[in-house]
Amino acid sequence: MRKERLFTPGPVQIPERVLKVLGEPIIHHRTPEFKEIFLYTRELFKRLVDSVSENFVYFASSGTGAMEAAVINFFKPGDKVVVINAGKFGERWGQIASTYGLNVVELKYEWGKSVDIEELKEVLDKNPDIKGVLFQISETSTGVYHDYKAIGELCKERDCLAVADAITALGVYNIKPEEEGIDILIGGSQKALMLPPGLSVLWFSEKAAKRLNKDIPKYYFDVAKEVKKQKEGSTAYTPAVSLIIGLRESLEMLLEEGMENVEKRHRLMSEATRAAVEALELKVFAENPAISVTAVYTERAEEIRKGLLKLGVRTAGGQDHLKGKLFRISHMGYLDTLDHLSAIGALEMVLSKLENRDLLGVGTKAFQQKVLEEEKLL
Ligand SMILES: Cc1ncc(COP(=O)(O)O)c(C=O)c1O
Repeated sequence: MRKERLFTPGPVQIPERVLKVLGEPIIHHRTPEFKEIFLYTRELFKRLVDSVSENFVYFASSGTGAMEAAVINFFKPGDKVVVINAGKFGERWGQIASTYGLNVVELKYEWGKSVDIEELKEVLDKNPDIKGVLFQISETSTGVYHDYKAIGELCKERDCLAVADAITALGVYNIKPEEEGIDILIGGSQKALMLPPGLSVLWFSEKAAKRLNKDIPKYYFDVAKEVKKQKEGSTAYTPAVSLIIGLRESLEMLLEEGMENVEKRHRLMSEATRAAVEALELKVFAENPAISVTAVYTERAEEIRKGLLKLGVRTAGGQDHLKGKLFRISHMGYLDTLDHLSAIGALEMVLSKLENRDLLGVGTKAFQQKVLEEEKLL
C-alpha cells in the first residue's frame, strides 16, 4: 500500500464528505433539483464573503479563466492599470492585461518580497487615471502575502478597482470584500475550496458593476450574461455540475467551522510549520509569508522533495528561476495541525539522512511548542 498525502498548493486533499457526493450519479443541470442546489451554493457563497450581493458568477474553468474574465469585463483596451508582479501569478496578471491591450504599469518586486504599499500609493497619486490594481492576496509561487486590506483602502478613495486574485486566499483568509474595498475577488476550486480543479468564481462590487463593459467582444466569459442567468439558478452554458454539488459540501464545512476559525487554523498551521522549518535550519523564503502555503528555500529542494514523496508527502517545487531551489508546503485543503506534524516528522527523517546528522525531534518539537502556545488543550 502506498498512501500519498497532498501538501501541494492545489490540487489539495479533499474531505470525505465532498468525495462522497462527487461519487454520486451525475444529475442533469436543467432540472429543478440542480437549480435548487445551485441557488443554495449561491446563498452559501454570500455567507462566505459576508455580503448579500448577487454580483458573482461561477465559471466551469480553472482560476486563470476568471482572471481573464476580470480583465475583459471590467476594463477596456488602453485602460491604465497597475500590476503587482512579485512572482509567477503577478506576472500572469501582466500577461493577461497586455494581451487585451491594457496599459500596464508594472510594480515589480524581487521574488520573496511583498508589495510596498507606500510605493503603490505614490504611483496611484501620480497617476489619477489608473483604473485598477491587479494583485494576488497570496502569491503562491513564492509564498508571499500582499496586504489586500491596505490595497483595498487605497482603491476605496479612488476611481480605481482593487482586483484580487484570491485563488489561494479564498477559504483561507476571512475576506470581506465589500467592507475591505476589494472590487473583484477571484477564487479557484482546487485550492482552499477543497474540490477538484475545474470551477472558478468571480465576485464583484457595486463600484465594479458600474464598469461592466458591453461593447468589448467576449463570448464564454461574459459576466453580465452569466449573472443574469445565475441569479435565477441557471447558467448560460453547462456548469461543472459535480463540482457545484461538491461546493455545497465544502462551503458548508467552511461555514460550520466559521471563517474566523478557518483563518486561525491556517495561521497556526503555517506559523508552526515556519517555526519547524527554522528550527531545522532551513530558510522561509517569503519576507511576509502567506498563511496558505510555506515556501522553503534550500539548494537541496529536489532531493528533499524526492525523499518526502518516498515517505508519502507530496510537496510542490519552485517555479522558473527558483526551480530546484524551493519546496512548497501547502496549508490549504482538508488538513489540520496533526497532518502537518507528520509532514514535519517526514522532513526531519529526510534531512537527517541527507545531512548525515540527527535532526529527529528538532522540527516537530518547535511545531508542537507553537501549537501548545496557541491551542487551549485542557
Ligand atoms: C495565486 C494563483 N493565481 C492563479 C493561479 C492559476 O490558477 P489555475 O491554475 O486554476 O488556472 C494559481 C494556481 O496555482 C494561483 O495559485
